[in-house]
Amino acid sequence: MEENMKEQSINLFSDSFSEALTNIRIFRYFFLIHELSKYGIIDSISIPGMTVERLCKDHSLVTEKSLRVIAFLESLGVIYRDKKQISLTKFGSLFSANSEESLIGVLDFVFSNEVMSAYKNLVPSLRDDRNAFNIANGSEAFELDPSGSFHQVFQKAMDATSVELNKLVAASLGAIVPEGNRLLDLGGGSGSLLVEVSKSRSDLKLINFDINKHPRSGLFENVIGDFFKNEIPKSDITILKKITHDWGDEQVVKILRKVRQESKPKKVIVIDTLVSSEDQRISKVSKALMDMEMLIMHGGGRERKFKDFQNLAYESGYSLERSFSLNSLYHFIILEPFERKQT
Ligand SMILES: C[S@@+](CC[C@H](N)C(=O)[O-])C[C@H]1O[C@@H](n2cnc3c(N)ncnc32)[C@H](O)[C@@H]1O
Repeated sequence: MEENMKEQSINLFSDSFSEALTNIRIFRYFFLIHELSKYGIIDSISIPGMTVERLCKDHSLVTEKSLRVIAFLESLGVIYRDKKQISLTKFGSLFSANSEESLIGVLDFVFSNEVMSAYKNLVPSLRDDRNAFNIANGSEAFELDPSGSFHQVFQKAMDATSVELNKLVAASLGAIVPEGNRLLDLGGGSGSLLVEVSKSRSDLKLINFDINKHPRSGLFENVIGDFFKNEIPKSDITILKKITHDWGDEQVVKILRKVRQESKPKKVIVIDTLVSSEDQRISKVSKALMDMEMLIMHGGGRERKFKDFQNLAYESGYSLERSFSLNSLYHFIILEPFERKQT
């Protein structure tokens, strides 16, 4: 019995005291990279031919102290040194704002005061029906000062985590979305998915719908609205990417029913996480962390299993036709409306 439990638990880290201690400090390691990045130091290291001397001059840094930071970055494989020159490694370039796959948006979000203070309110949030983000910031995450800085930080993090995912989704739409269709991205945020889709599908009529205002793009129609309160535009296909996991079951059913009645798509495509007992160790940890994030940020939001999606779809008048995995975290789930038999 005990052996079984051991096997089932997610033992990402080693049992050794010193390794556990290092792993605790890894948190600070990302914090420090974020600090260096905020001051443009990581970006400067990405400039060809950069030297420690020039870096210190450009950023008014004391050389002796800065050399210790350089050694720290080198020890963790963020940079490498070739004689006097310093450069970012492939891993290090993930922390440069200049990289297409930059993770800086994610670090800005994780270390923002709003998110850090939300995490500190985990336990109080377990005592009643408020979520930790709301306890800490006095507002739901999506409603917090829409013209303020947190809103931008949130959107940048969303886009930063979707660079690869948007490409995978766009490629998977090929066979599923017929020529000339109206494609609606519900809760599409900045519209980065539709930008990606437009690269290969100029035949489609693209509509981005979101509660928050985003810069206009000539590539798609931008509709600002609340999917609980406002009319959802007509579409042939509606996409909900990273939307269902933000909400509790009741709200998901509300959204899907409204989509069915007002948008009337032939298919709904849900892009979200599916938790499975088959998940590999690292996916298990990622999905469990994501579930905590939903608990802290939104309260009712959660990561779900295949069966949960089947039930939610059925409750909303859809059948779950097919699903396939896009990467280790996200699934492409196709729902189709069905007619309930009159009894
Ligand atoms: C987790 S983000 C996902 C954004 C985008 N789909 C993506 O994959 O990057 C959730 C999005 O839902 C939007 N949203 C939240 N509540 C909404 C509502 N009631 N009506 C419309 N959009 C809403 C947020 O503004 C945000 O852009």
